[in-house]
Amino acid sequence: MQIIPLHPEVGAEIRGLSMAEVAQDESAYKAVRQAFEEYSVLVFRNQPTDDAVQVGFSRRFGNLETAKVGSIGEGTPFSILTNIDKDTQQLVPPGHKEALRAKANQLWHTDSSFRQTPALASLLSARTIPGEGGETEFISQRATWLRLPESLKKQLEKSFAWHSYGHSRAKIDPSLASQREKDALPPACWRMCWQNPANGRVALYIASHTYAIEGMPDPEALALIDELMHIATADPAHRYEHVWQNGDFVMWDNRASMHRGRPWAMNKPRYMIRTTISASEEDGVAALRPPAKTH
Ligand code: OGA
Ligand code: MN
Repeated sequence: MQIIPLHPEVGAEIRGLSMAEVAQDESAYKAVRQAFEEYSVLVFRNQPTDDAVQVGFSRRFGNLETAKVGSIGEGTPFSILTNIDKDTQQLVPPGHKEALRAKANQLWHTDSSFRQTPALASLLSARTIPGEGGETEFISQRATWLRLPESLKKQLEKSFAWHSYGHSRAKIDPSLASQREKDALPPACWRMCWQNPANGRVALYIASHTYAIEGMPDPEALALIDELMHIATADPAHRYEHVWQNGDFVMWDNRASMHRGRPWAMNKPRYMIRTTISASEEDGVAALRPPAKTH
């Protein structure tokens, strides 16, 4: 297995190892797991697009989430990101739910911070890509952490923030998340940094889903969240941009990075399949929980 770093702060391409091998073989998994802990974003190219292999690879890392209520893959391990209507197989018109969802994915975020069990990792597979646009960008939240002043790090180490799916969807359209979808995903509260148990490295833990900080008046909290987002994402030099090719799989560590989709021409189809691995206690979830939930 070769590891080819893609950016000074985040990401590496894995060569000489197939995803099917990782699905089948514990020692192959261990090597990939080590690279995952180190680089936060792993790229695999020229892989067969096989749902069973995607699930087998993902299952090595932990339990899989089921796709959200109201999403195309609801109840299955597959979250589908696309502008193709699932019933008609036609491109969706502007304003369609899937088009708005694509826009919401273009806000910087980490996956599933709004769930009662946050996500360790996501694995995204390109099945149909537009000729241009539709890239995915990543930043390291470990690198963000290192850019923060000491006093702010001290404060954030003991701060807990609220995350809500409805909050990030409402930034695009107030009716994008239905009541049923919101009811299925009540807000979650997590420490504002996540320490990796394998190497001790600390990452800022916020997302487009973050809307409040325990014990802080809302205007102050929103200003701080905005400022942190700015420090994390404003400078393009900190980003790894993944330009998709057919057969690419990209895996990322939701504890230690943020990502966003980039726009593409909506008259071009894009179809991506994501599996998402839940974080376990060994992945550092215990330290993320607030001492007691107060609201
Ligand atoms: C995701 C995501 C962005 C993209 O799969 O979680 O945010 O480029 N994807 O599709
Ligand atoms: Mn995402």
